Amino acid sequence: MTATSKVALVTGASRGIGAAIARRLASDGLTVIINYAGSVAAAEQLAADIEKAGGKALTIQADVSDPNHIARMFDSAEAAFGGIDVLVNNAGIMKLAKLADSDDDLIDSQIAINLKGTINTLREASRRLRDGGRIVNLSTSVVGLKLETYSVYAATKAAVEALTGILSKELRGRSITVNAVAPGPTATALFLDGKSPELIERMSKMNPLERLGTPEDIASAVAFLAGPDGAWINGQVLRANGGMI
Ligand SMILES: NC(=O)c1ccc[n+]([C@@H]2O[C@H](COP(=O)([O-])OP(=O)(O)OC[C@H]3O[C@@H](n4cnc5c(N)ncnc54)[C@H](OP(=O)(O)O)[C@@H]3O)[C@@H](O)[C@H]2O)c1
Repeated sequence: MTATSKVALVTGASRGIGAAIARRLASDGLTVIINYAGSVAAAEQLAADIEKAGGKALTIQADVSDPNHIARMFDSAEAAFGGIDVLVNNAGIMKLAKLADSDDDLIDSQIAINLKGTINTLREASRRLRDGGRIVNLSTSVVGLKLETYSVYAATKAAVEALTGILSKELRGRSITVNAVAPGPTATALFLDGKSPELIERMSKMNPLERLGTPEDIASAVAFLAGPDGAWINGQVLRANGGMI
């Protein structure tokens, strides 16, 4: 492993896909900032694991839905490492219900974290990311699949895909790419919690590879877009789902 001076900020990196992304980018030689909302112990453990493996990591608590928290997080990152090169907008929540049964909390919380949270970090990054940087946003393959009960969640992620394309153009001249990765069903708490074993089995067979994605599968796609091999990919949505759609 060779250390580089590149610094990556991964939101929602205490658990699940974000933790796998942080681990992968650290093993690719980047310094990683592990953002979390409430899971301080998991975030600290991940940072310790990365450091033990020879990497460099810092944890920062911030609620992505609060723009003041985001500004403070960028301040802390810049104070520690001089700047940020890679932003991975991974923090997200999912609450499923038919629209008729969706209460205001289901709607407002997903808009606040998945959409406004992404806007908050993208706005800060478009002002402060170092030239030559990379932004990767997490969407979902449900934007294409359009499954019942996913309407509000998918709507927040469709908006993230729209932001991806537009910001890639607004950053013209700074050699910063902006892309999205749209996973299919991936084995994390967000997908597994509240589902019966039968439903999990059925959804894991929706793709021709007949398994759930792993957080590492998604981290590989993010690492490609965040690394040198992804340099020519810009403004795109990569559906990492085993061929489900
Ligand atoms: N799993 C899937 O099947 C799947 C499929 C498609 C897309 N995705 C997307 O992939 C991303 C990661 O999902 P996951 O499955 O890894 O979810 P997860 O296991 O539930 O982890 C969610 C992460 O987001 C953080 N988070 C939640 N609210 C936050 C907030 N307000 N501010 C900062 N961090 C916050 C959590 O931090 P704390 O631990 O501190 O709460 C946690 O680290 C999400 O954007 C999700 O929509 C997932």
